[in-house]
Amino acid sequence: MTKVLVATEKPFAPEAVKQIKQIIEDAGFEFATLEKYTDKSELLAAVKDANALIIRSDKATKEVIEAAPNLKIIVRAGAGYDNIDLEAATANNVLAMNTPGQNSNAVAELVLGMMVFQARNQFNGKAGTELKNKKLGIHAYGNVGRYVVNIAKGFGMEVFAYDPFVKDEVIEADGVKVFHSAEELYRHCQYISLHIPNNDKTRKSINYDLLNLMPFGATLVNTARKEVIDEKDLLKIFALRSDFTYLSDLIPDCEEEITRDYRGRFFFTPKKSGAQTAEANINAGVAAAKQIVGFIKEGNSEYKLN
Ligand code: 3PG
Repeated sequence: MTKVLVATEKPFAPEAVKQIKQIIEDAGFEFATLEKYTDKSELLAAVKDANALIIRSDKATKEVIEAAPNLKIIVRAGAGYDNIDLEAATANNVLAMNTPGQNSNAVAELVLGMMVFQARNQFNGKAGTELKNKKLGIHAYGNVGRYVVNIAKGFGMEVFAYDPFVKDEVIEADGVKVFHSAEELYRHCQYISLHIPNNDKTRKSINYDLLNLMPFGATLVNTARKEVIDEKDLLKIFALRSDFTYLSDLIPDCEEEITRDYRGRFFFTPKKSGAQTAEANINAGVAAAKQIVGFIKEGNSEYKLN
């Protein structure tokens, strides 16, 4: 019998697990879970007899893939797939997929939530500022960026975007002004929301020179990946610009220095929380389960990554 393993160090909401299980069992497959595991060895043992795997930010490394000789498909229930070794997957005849768009609204709500929290001085009772009429730059106009724009417009913000992979007309159709370089975007916007993936081209690409272009009150919001930030430069901008603020769903490696030296100018979620809503878990988890059934039963490979 086809065995589908849901391996999530950060578990889905119970309702999402219930719905995933239903889809898997209705297809006549066996359902198994490994949740809140603390050691890689638990994952290596659990994948041993799995034919299909659903993960979140869990690392599907070469070692994990090779520990699963019967594995046919891995679905990342989410958007970013920098946690899957695609080369190893291909070499081992394992198809990888993601579920784009399914958790985007949840991430976008967190972006605006962190911005309000910071604009109101982290709710410390002192007079803060409003988001209305402030300029927000969306760095990479994918699913999350689009949702951020919609919510930000509700706040009365002016919205701008830079994405070399999306046609101007597509962005402009959403009432968003297009910039053709990251430099222009950063120069123009007090708020920047990052939505770039983590890859060889983007790693450490958010550096001092770029951040220093931002106008007074510069606020960088990162719900993308910590790897895209040059942390040496992050510390430099914190030190040289007392108006700079960093709001992140990814705890930086230099957390200790920032928390020690820059009180009130940062906020980090204690655990990556962008996609951590029941709705996002259900949307992404159910999509992942359906994609597995569709692939195994019909050979459907929409959203394949390799
Ligand atoms: C994604 O890439 O979909 C988000 O970063 C969510 O990741 P998570 O499922 O680990 O919360």
